[in-house]
Amino acid sequence: MYDAVIVGGGPGGYAAALYAHNFDLSVALIEKDLVGGTCLHRGCIPAKSWLHSAEVLDEVKHAADFGVIASEPTFDWEAGLARKNKVVGQLHKGLSGLLGARHVDVIEGTGRLAGPGRVEVTAADGSSRVVEGRNVIVATGSRPATISGYDFDGDRIVSSDEALDWPRRPERAAIIGAGAIGCEFASLLSDLGSEVYLFELLPQVLPGMEPEAAKVLDRALRRRGVQVATGVEVAPPRIGKKSVEISAGETTVKTDVVLVAVGRAPLTEGIGLETTRAVVERGYLGVDPGTMMTAEPNLYAVGDVVAGTPQLAHAGFAEGIAAITHIATGSPAPVDYRAIPLVVYSRPEVASVGLSAAQATAEGYEVEETSHGFGGVGRAIIQGEAQGTVKVVAQKDGPILGATIAGPLAGEMIHELMYAVAWEALPAEAAAFIHAHPTVAEAVGETLLAASGRSLH
Ligand code: NAI
Repeated sequence: MYDAVIVGGGPGGYAAALYAHNFDLSVALIEKDLVGGTCLHRGCIPAKSWLHSAEVLDEVKHAADFGVIASEPTFDWEAGLARKNKVVGQLHKGLSGLLGARHVDVIEGTGRLAGPGRVEVTAADGSSRVVEGRNVIVATGSRPATISGYDFDGDRIVSSDEALDWPRRPERAAIIGAGAIGCEFASLLSDLGSEVYLFELLPQVLPGMEPEAAKVLDRALRRRGVQVATGVEVAPPRIGKKSVEISAGETTVKTDVVLVAVGRAPLTEGIGLETTRAVVERGYLGVDPGTMMTAEPNLYAVGDVVAGTPQLAHAGFAEGIAAITHIATGSPAPVDYRAIPLVVYSRPEVASVGLSAAQATAEGYEVEETSHGFGGVGRAIIQGEAQGTVKVVAQKDGPILGATIAGPLAGEMIHELMYAVAWEALPAEAAAFIHAHPTVAEAVGETLLAASGRSLH
């Protein structure tokens, strides 16, 4: 009998398994594929590897701007793919080793809830066994969702799963959905030389993020030749032998592949939830936010299957930690969702934390918005990346509620604003600290100074 049996070895599940050592809990981790889950094998890590390759290519292309004379670079797609696989392999090996070192029993097979504290595990060869635990954590993750008429066929109509393993560069790619996945692929494919069409249903790319930041990325993508269409609905595709035709309003484009990136759906079918009292809504599991426990005693859920929380690897980590802490201590250990950063690793990066101005206003706050561009920031100019903006949203005469950065190193710098949001800092309190000069982060310092009512540059 384990203290916890975890079904699913992605970020939510493996974080719970790893964290359990802090309390000397015995843990089994059931995984039907490879530990690491979507993030490591079909998501964050492989996508960032491709994006970094694209960034390096762009840097070499512009090397002459910095006085470095290199011959015109070309991109070796196979080498990019091999590097991605190497990075994933290295991290998978590291994670497997760490799970072993922490004495987590990794059990290969598909888990199914089979009564309180019981999980039936069916191995690839069809054999099955029951694993018992005082607590069970569902961490089965999600899969790409699609829209009507666009069933994935792995060839012409694909999800990010297949796109991360394309054996060669698509000459032309249409992307449906300009959320995190759509924008990251539009960015990397255009950098690597594909002709890219990006279709978004809502009026801006990265809906939900600050419009100014979305505009920075929208402009950058268009400058690189991406044909961006927002506020459009695509008609079902016409799939030919050699191409696919898709239309949105007046526009019809012929493309080699269509990448559908319209969100992800929870993977909770067939895992035996009907045998429990857990509340399941459209496949998502309802949990008590203080403990991550479902309505079934001692059954927890973490990661992408949880209803109403962000589908982000790092949210999964936090939820896994919260569930294990509750199992070990019996005390609630709620995740602080107010200050979870979101990073879109496009070129330029866009990152946010906390509330946007629109969200804060909708929540009834009277807000003050302050923005500062990278245009005058020395190090950004030195690096040739002086486009973009930092925006801070504060309650009128009150604390910082949220922030967004579009520009160089946005995904790293957002973390200083994470502290400001989480600690409910007043703009003047955050502005009192001195940023090193010259740094890209000075853009954040300047924004905070301006938000405190006393700007410098
Ligand atoms: P998403 O929810 O971020 O974006 C989906 C986009 O598709 C939205 O902009 C939506 O308006 C649009 N859309 C929906 N139906 C449409 C239609 N019929 N036609 C055109 N557009 C349509 O989902 P995405 O990008 O697929 O990512 C899935 C999940 O993975 C998200 O929760 C995302 O946050 C997460 N993720 C996070 C990343 C990161 O943090 N860097 C990277 C990739 C994914």
